Amino acid sequence: MTVRSATILLPDPQTTRQLGKILGESLPAGSVVLLRGDLGAGKTTLVQGLGEGLGIKDTVLSPTFALINEYTEGRLPLYHFDLYRLQPKEVEGLYLDVYWEGIEVAPGIVAIEWAERLLYHPPNYLDIELSFREDLQRQAKLRLVGELDFDLSRMLAQRSLSKQITINCQLNDE
Ligand SMILES: Nc1ncnc2c1ncn2[C@@H]1O[C@H](COP(=O)(O)OP(=O)(O)OP(=O)(O)O)[C@@H](O)[C@H]1O
Ligand SMILES: [Mg+2]
Repeated sequence: MTVRSATILLPDPQTTRQLGKILGESLPAGSVVLLRGDLGAGKTTLVQGLGEGLGIKDTVLSPTFALINEYTEGRLPLYHFDLYRLQPKEVEGLYLDVYWEGIEVAPGIVAIEWAERLLYHPPNYLDIELSFREDLQRQAKLRLVGELDFDLSRMLAQRSLSKQITINCQLNDE
């Protein structure tokens, strides 16, 4: 039995960052993280945590003028995309599959903000949907799609996250 999805409460930006950090410490090379959620939901904050978890000292900022920001000083390279301002034609021109296949570039972690704008998805990925809750807190809904060598239940057991109420932990024994 493996945990395939979970919802984590994010009471403050530090927790959002901490979630990213744990992912950055534990995700294997070649992982794709698709970040979805409204304006200001916390996508960049989570990617900043990812960078910290990978051991990147540079400040991770959302790519605004560049289409991609690459950070290579950590445990694995981080390829950070933000599709917010892009037209479908431009998204197509990013050749994202080159990054998630890791053939022409060193396999790393691919983090994509505004993944709703993707024209197609990679075969395996971690989907993270960030949202505002009615109680004004935020939450992250994590979902493993396809085959990703990653133990979500182990991650959720980490002390800094297990403090947060994990609502809805869906088990799946495929
Ligand atoms: N769990 C949280 N609780 C409260 N505030 C948060 C939380 N996570 C992030 N924030 C704050 O929300 C603001 C927006 O965060 P961030 O830039 O990460 O969002 P975003 O989803 O990347 O936005 P955009 O849609 O513009 O790319 C920041 O000030 C950040 O500190
Ligand atoms: Mg952002």
